[in-house]
Amino acid sequence: MTLELLQAQAQACTACRLAEGRTRVVFGEGDPDARLMFVGEGPGEEEDRTGRPFVGKAGQLLDRILEAAGIPRASVYIANIVKCRPPGNRAPLPDEARVCTDRWLRKQIELVAPQIIVPLGGVAAEFFLGEKAPITKVRGRWHEWHGIRVFPMFHPAYLLRNPSRAPGSPKHLTWLDIQEVKRALD
Ligand code: URA
Repeated sequence: MTLELLQAQAQACTACRLAEGRTRVVFGEGDPDARLMFVGEGPGEEEDRTGRPFVGKAGQLLDRILEAAGIPRASVYIANIVKCRPPGNRAPLPDEARVCTDRWLRKQIELVAPQIIVPLGGVAAEFFLGEKAPITKVRGRWHEWHGIRVFPMFHPAYLLRNPSRAPGSPKHLTWLDIQEVKRALD
């Protein structure tokens, strides 16, 4: 199996109700040999239109965070828990997340084989931690998932809603978090 083949299969997926409303399947993109993988929640409007992950406003903030930390976007792999846009950008339902990760994300991770996974936001963190936990509690700490180091961070959309850069603010903590990830890669 290759990422290309898996992606081609995903394009035709109708395993859950999210297939009905999607424009494009947003499989994921990046370096197929990336040491660092980001996993978000699911495509938004811009991602659904373009077929690419994290290209809307939240994605542009993610780009700036990566750039500030000296991590080229092209050097990482970026994917989502669900590959099709939930209606009105609602969170994926548990059965949608389960079906989609079983079919695609787990295999994607196996093929990329990253050393570090950064779940962005609570929905992605829940998948890797195996339990619902507030992102404020689990972010900025190292966890493990099937032998892979996992370091949850705030979702960039959350940072857009909380623009303060004051010490202890989500943006400030995210800046500390991404530097920790960069250090772990070096
Ligand atoms: N938010 C996500 O969680 N994923 C995307 O791809 C874009 C926005």
